[in-house]
Amino acid sequence: MIVMIYDLEKLKDLLPPAGNFSGERMYYFEEVDSTNLWLLAQNEIGGRFCLAAQQLQGRGRRGRGWVSLPGGSVLLSMGWSPPLPRVAGVSLVSGLAVVRALEAQGVKNLQLKWPNDILLKAKKIGGILVEVKRDALVIGVGLNIDLNISTGIDQPWTDLISCGYDLDKEQLVADLLLIHHSMLEECQNQGFGIFRERWNKLHGYRDQLVKSVTSNNLVEGYARGVDDSGALLVETETGIERIISGEVSVRLLTSSTRNSVETETSVP
Ligand code: BTN
Repeated sequence: MIVMIYDLEKLKDLLPPAGNFSGERMYYFEEVDSTNLWLLAQNEIGGRFCLAAQQLQGRGRRGRGWVSLPGGSVLLSMGWSPPLPRVAGVSLVSGLAVVRALEAQGVKNLQLKWPNDILLKAKKIGGILVEVKRDALVIGVGLNIDLNISTGIDQPWTDLISCGYDLDKEQLVADLLLIHHSMLEECQNQGFGIFRERWNKLHGYRDQLVKSVTSNNLVEGYARGVDDSGALLVETETGIERIISGEVSVRLLTSSTRNSVETETSVP
């Protein structure tokens, strides 16, 4: 299948002529298993990016898949090296970068769900998967642009077209790259703490009752935002718990019963 959804010359013109995330470090595929997997398999990762029109084996968090249709999503992976000290902070910074890139084209009412879901009108519109290889990070961003499907996704989701936004895709990809570049550098130099306030303003589950589950720990309480290291603070009956694991699933509970789950993270 031939799918050309990007004007690659236009995209290159919007990027720096050389160096990190420049046109000459772009790897574009009409079809690839996963942009994250492709970048992880390279010897040189830092400063390169991989963009695809379709993924055959898109990867989500916690071992899940990521659903896309040819040309219906932004599927972008960025290589960053050297690694930042805290990977959890990186996915939070990436969420902020995605929000800024979308806001630059007029998208409003975006929110973030810890650690790295992007929500629009309380539904998931995008996700971030950060993976580590030796001395480098791969930051994968998936955004639903026009995902005209009725099945296969097991949580509330939406896409930009359904919400009335027909964006300039080349500008969006260029902004994603440029904004990630500058925010990752800032995070590297000054730590996640400088982004804390902004993240907490965008926090979609703020002060709501949540349940966080790992293989050996269950925490229930009110989500109070993140601290300077990017950990989620949950106020429980016995005090504040810091949720730090990247494998945590944070679920929203109804206020009437602490056992019923409304929404869960990770797919699409
Ligand atoms: C999540 O579970 O919310 C994270 C989804 C991340 C999907 C993106 S799409 C581009 C990159 N390549 C992948 O295989 N996954 C990420």
